[in-house]
Amino acid sequence: MSRRFAAQSALGYDARIVNLVPGYAELHEISAALLAARLPERARVLVVGAGTGTETLALAQANAGWELVGVDPSADMLAVARRRGAAAGLPNASFHEGYVADLPDAGGFGAAGFGAGGFDAAVSLLVMHFVAGDDAKATYLGEIAGRLRVGAPLLLCDLMEHDEDDLDVIAEYACARGVGTEALAGIRQRLQADFHPLSEEQLRELGEVAGFALPRPYFRGVAFVANELQRRSD
Ligand SMILES: C[S@@+](CC[C@H](N)C(=O)[O-])C[C@H]1O[C@@H](n2cnc3c(N)ncnc32)[C@H](O)[C@@H]1O
Repeated sequence: MSRRFAAQSALGYDARIVNLVPGYAELHEISAALLAARLPERARVLVVGAGTGTETLALAQANAGWELVGVDPSADMLAVARRRGAAAGLPNASFHEGYVADLPDAGGFGAAGFGAGGFDAAVSLLVMHFVAGDDAKATYLGEIAGRLRVGAPLLLCDLMEHDEDDLDVIAEYACARGVGTEALAGIRQRLQADFHPLSEEQLRELGEVAGFALPRPYFRGVAFVANELQRRSD
């Protein structure tokens, strides 16, 4: 795991991310609305790259009948998530350190546990763009698909293929929210070096290989694009 989501970086994440991702709060709100429209009163939702717990805890709070399972390889991000979860007192949210493949097959309060077909939906917000290479991304999507029941939605948002103009807009957005010029130069450099964006065509192909039907866009903040994918039958 890189140091990107470690220690001080994890502690400052919540204050920082809203300035760096245009429409961050709206992305989370619209993703929650989409899930509410798709899922029944009792459902199990897998949150991949749960980070500091923002979507996991908001969904658990708004839907007492849902079980939220967050997974993330960063112990420091999860420490923040667990502290927030304990303060909110939400018995229907839990956090697991590691990757999707590390989740136990049994567990949770549903009969199918965390294993194949165990989840009614999955959410991956601002995570897969850190996974480098098509093969690794196909594995990432395939592991999520393997945990979902047929027909279940995956809400996936990443920095997608973009140009210099998009980076200018993202930088201006951050600047307008008070991010200083020195920090901005670093952010721009990291957007180019640390992120591995896909084109829409590549996402369609990788989703297909992993077992998902055509992605359907539901939100966009400059080059951060959210798609709903549906788990196909094999
Ligand atoms: C930018 S944060 C997003 C956190 C949260 N989803 C949000 O919207 O605020 C990315 C998170 O993905 C996690 N991550 C990176 N690679 C991952 C992977 N392969 N599987 C699961 N989580 C991963 C990182 O540790 C980090 O906590």
